[in-house]
Amino acid sequence: MKLLVTGGAGFIGANFIHYYLKNHSEDSIINLDKLTYAGNLANLEAIKDNPNYTFIKGDICDRRIVDSAMNDVDVVVHFAAESHVDRSIIDASPFIHTNVVGTHTLLESALKNNIKRFHHISTDEVFGSLELNSTEKFNESTGYDPRSPYAASKAASDHLVRAYNITYGLPTTISNCSNNFGPFHFPEKLIPLAITNILEGKKVPVYGDGKNVRDWLYVEDHCRAIDLILQKGTIGETYFVGSSDPEINNLELVRKILKLMGKSESEIEFVKDRPGHDRRYAIDWSKIKTELGWEPKHNLDSALEETIEWFKNNEDWWQKIKSGEYQRYYEKQYYS
Ligand code: NAD
Ligand code: DAU
Repeated sequence: MKLLVTGGAGFIGANFIHYYLKNHSEDSIINLDKLTYAGNLANLEAIKDNPNYTFIKGDICDRRIVDSAMNDVDVVVHFAAESHVDRSIIDASPFIHTNVVGTHTLLESALKNNIKRFHHISTDEVFGSLELNSTEKFNESTGYDPRSPYAASKAASDHLVRAYNITYGLPTTISNCSNNFGPFHFPEKLIPLAITNILEGKKVPVYGDGKNVRDWLYVEDHCRAIDLILQKGTIGETYFVGSSDPEINNLELVRKILKLMGKSESEIEFVKDRPGHDRRYAIDWSKIKTELGWEPKHNLDSALEETIEWFKNNEDWWQKIKSGEYQRYYEKQYYS
């Protein structure tokens, strides 16, 4: 089987390519990635010479490149996106372009190329914000309620994918997953930012009162869920993917990371809150468990320890990122 993975040089896409090639040595992958600030070929260094892997540098909004990349492909796994909420607040334009126009371009090309499965990677953020201290969780029947430009652009892409299934019969599936963490996580997101700031002797910025709750899933568990959906998922269906850990707010999470790294809470710096900051996310993933037999294999504590070790052992990887364009973003986001 031949897969086209979009956004495979980013955090989750790269983890997925490693996971998939390890578990399906008979299949081949084409990775189409524009290499934005978040795309990094170093994430794929270990498999770059694998005969079952091909890289194409290109934009998912470019129909000509997309058509040629999709030629003879069986399955599309669509990760490519602008993915960082804070950047979408600074400038929403690239989010609309890549997440909406790019997804539409892929869907059109998938129809033309008779793609057997188009799997769209989405997020829990499209369902809005839950109350703190409630026990409510998002499930596959929850209505869409995106509240940031990023979430709105991802919601639009989900709707387009569904519309192409219902209207044109394109064989699609969608997964909406909670916050991932693990190797190759770009250090502008909370967990890798906290770990690398601590390693650099810098403070860890916590937005607002730090009571916002996220559902943290180790990235390998997400990759396994996607693989299962590709093998056993029902066409036209959506699957929610989330963790089995007790809820934890950002402040508790940062305290945990500081403790694991032998530092005190004095390293926390409370900074201005994110505008429209969603208070709480929680995922009911019983459908994928019942129908496909998926559940997370990793828990937060041990996976965090592994992730901290990974960042300690791959200083070169994140140092290069933190010294480049990202440095300008950091100054603007936290100190302007
Ligand atoms: P990322 O920002 O780390 O990577 C995105 C990748 O897409 C990069 O390699 C980038 O170069 C590429 N890309 C961006 N615009 C492109 C374009 N126009 N054409 C081709 N390639 C382009 O993102 P991530 O965290 O790996 O997220 C991957 C997907 O998973 C996204 O769709 C995101 O919405 C979704 N998601 C992420 C999380 C999370 O916690 N990170 C959770 C749930 C869902
Ligand atoms: O929920 C899934 C989503 O998770 C994905 O769709 C997004 O692509 C991904 O980026 C992530 O979004 P978040 O906004 O939840 O992740 P982030 O790591 O940016 O922030 C996590 C929480 O930590 C959030 O409540 C904001 C807070 N935060 C973040 C940063 C960067 C801080 O308190 N301080 C910070 O410096």
